[in-house]
Amino acid sequence: MADTNARLTLGEKSFDLPVLSGSVGPDVIDIRKLYAQTGAFTYDPGYTSTGSCESEITYIDGDQGILLHRGYPIDQLAEHSTFMEVAYLLLNGDLPSQDELNNFTYTISRHTMLHEQLSTFYRGFRRDAHPMAIMCGVVGALSAFYHDSTDITDPKQRMIASHRLIAKMPTIAAMAYKYSVGQPFLYPQNNLSYTGNFLRMTFGVPAEPYEVNPVIENAMRRIFILHADHEQNASTSTVRLAGSSGANPFACIAAGIACLWGPAHGGANEAALNMLREIGRPERIPEYIARAKDKEDPFRLMGFGHRVYKNFDPRAKVMQRTAEEVLNELGISDPIFDVARELEQIALKDDYFIEKKLYPNVDFYSGVILSAIGFPTSMFTALFALARTVGWVAQWNEMISDPDQKIGRPRQLYTGPTQRDYVPVERR
Ligand code: CMC
Repeated sequence: MADTNARLTLGEKSFDLPVLSGSVGPDVIDIRKLYAQTGAFTYDPGYTSTGSCESEITYIDGDQGILLHRGYPIDQLAEHSTFMEVAYLLLNGDLPSQDELNNFTYTISRHTMLHEQLSTFYRGFRRDAHPMAIMCGVVGALSAFYHDSTDITDPKQRMIASHRLIAKMPTIAAMAYKYSVGQPFLYPQNNLSYTGNFLRMTFGVPAEPYEVNPVIENAMRRIFILHADHEQNASTSTVRLAGSSGANPFACIAAGIACLWGPAHGGANEAALNMLREIGRPERIPEYIARAKDKEDPFRLMGFGHRVYKNFDPRAKVMQRTAEEVLNELGISDPIFDVARELEQIALKDDYFIEKKLYPNVDFYSGVILSAIGFPTSMFTALFALARTVGWVAQWNEMISDPDQKIGRPRQLYTGPTQRDYVPVERR
């Protein structure tokens, strides 16, 4: 409800625009009637000041480094909850009771297998296909296999599609990996945890039993929780925009995966590790810091900076701790980790990074952990997509249930030619 108005003066006229307040966070100026009243649009490429929807799922305070899911701080969830609890929380609004959690976990586990014919679908890809290319294709193709959950007007079908997506994503991602290394696909094993099952499908082979290492399982649990949702980021907004036209959920999540792939978003973990490898040893750090600061050089420190976090990324702290745990457990002394720690220290003391408020983000340490566990860099973004699917489906459900929801259709500031007459080719 609007308690107050913002006054806009445009030429000779003034207009009152309602100001809406959420439960916490900045107020928003409601400009829904702006064009009808004034004939003007707003201009905000990159949406740096635009709220695109009302949401009850995730809250971020970028200045304070706060990330809350349904009110719960991310570090508490990463420390104490299972991924299934977080998935339930994001989808349903509250932490589950023990019974609700058992039912939810059981339901998800009933959907972990893929339609058998989908395994032949994989064989259409080249062996060196990027896992994200496979993920986009296979997830989009789910709509051709699960017709009974594509009616978005039916809340039951929406929930079944959501459960299917959450349950099948580890199977899809693990199969993308298996395909790339030429090993047989492994079926899910539902007595394992969500992350344990994923680790087994990825690193197990049918010829031998696979023991899930609890430290690695716990690290994966944290990584999945830290990536589960992040408010209206680029891929989530893509999912919402695709869904706003009434597209089926599998197609919408495939659109989210496509957006996540980019190096400025989910692809940054892959890019960050490649960068750390390129730097190779701490002595070379100053050279890369200088390049990051050079306006003529397009190089950026990957894993640094965030559109919203301008103090620290609360996910990065948990990630750094987890990296230490995993490297200790595996007995790995990875020079890349030393480079990462040193780079962080140097950058945090550098005026350029201080002034621009650039801090390590979630991707800075995640690559170190994933690489130590044995994932190739090309799988990093696929793991991000796997975990973020929970947030995507929660946000998609919220959007479809919102009575104010309309097809997303931004406007533009047109700067092209005005109307002109067609000239036949011989006279051009
Ligand atoms: N290294 C060096 N300079 C940087 C960096 C960086 N990583 N990030 C931003 N800057 C500079 C940038 O050059 C600009 O300088 P100036 O004002 O002089 O032109 C200033 O800081 C502001 O940058 P911006 O690009 O306008 O900021 P943005 O909010 O549009 O971009 C970002 C945010 C995350 C895309 C950007 O910081 C970046 O490219 N970081 C590296 C990629 C990365 O790690 N992405 C993962 C984000 S977290 C995971 C996720 O949520 O997907």
